[in-house]
Amino acid sequence: MPPVKSFNAMLLTIHAMIDADIVQVAAIEAQQHSVPWSATSFADALNQGWHCRVLKDTCDQVLGYCISMTAGDDEELLTLTVRPDSTGQGLGKQLMQELLHQARQRGASNLFLEVRESNQIAIHLYEQMGFKMTGMRKNYYPVPANPVLKSLAGRENALVMCRALAEHL
Ligand SMILES: CC(C)(COP(=O)(O)OP(=O)(O)OC[C@H]1O[C@@H](n2cnc3c(N)ncnc32)[C@H](O)[C@@H]1OP(=O)(O)O)[C@@H](O)C(=O)NCCC(=O)NCCS
Repeated sequence: MPPVKSFNAMLLTIHAMIDADIVQVAAIEAQQHSVPWSATSFADALNQGWHCRVLKDTCDQVLGYCISMTAGDDEELLTLTVRPDSTGQGLGKQLMQELLHQARQRGASNLFLEVRESNQIAIHLYEQMGFKMTGMRKNYYPVPANPVLKSLAGRENALVMCRALAEHL
């Protein structure tokens, strides 16, 4: 279990991600995802003009980030991640609230996302934030082999979830 860093939520701020954040973002990504995006993928996301946000403390340390893109009339969440020593303290919810606010401001009708079927923590967060399951993509995500658990590589289903942005919780 990683040590839990506690902080005053009032001192945290959310900003547009910049190139200088990518080293920290990619390091968090590598710790939190079994198939992580590379630093290059984050640089590409910035170049594509996707909506990339970071949540920082007063020392300019990245504690979490989220990336979404506009898809027609809707917004699509691509990733939402919190640093391992900072989870369970409401930062995921804070980032999601920001995403909903930004997407609404851009005039999007819905926010869509995909999540691994096994990711119960993320699914719990999304349901709390008003997302409903709208579909499933079979064998969507790769699951790498795990030498510790002696498991083979495979595939995992994705749940597709959606939140209508006209609704206010
Ligand atoms: C999913 C994730 C973003 C949630 O961020 P977070 O800052 O921990 O979330 P919050 O603190 O806002 O908590 C949201 C809910 O999840 C619960 N939760 C968070 N961590 C938990 C844990 N380790 N075990 C059980 N529940 C947990 C919280 O208790 C809260 O529910 P509650 O209000 O009923 O108590 C974070 O765990 C993460 O980065 N996971 C790895 C990356 C990932 O899976 N991203 C999502 C898919 S792209």
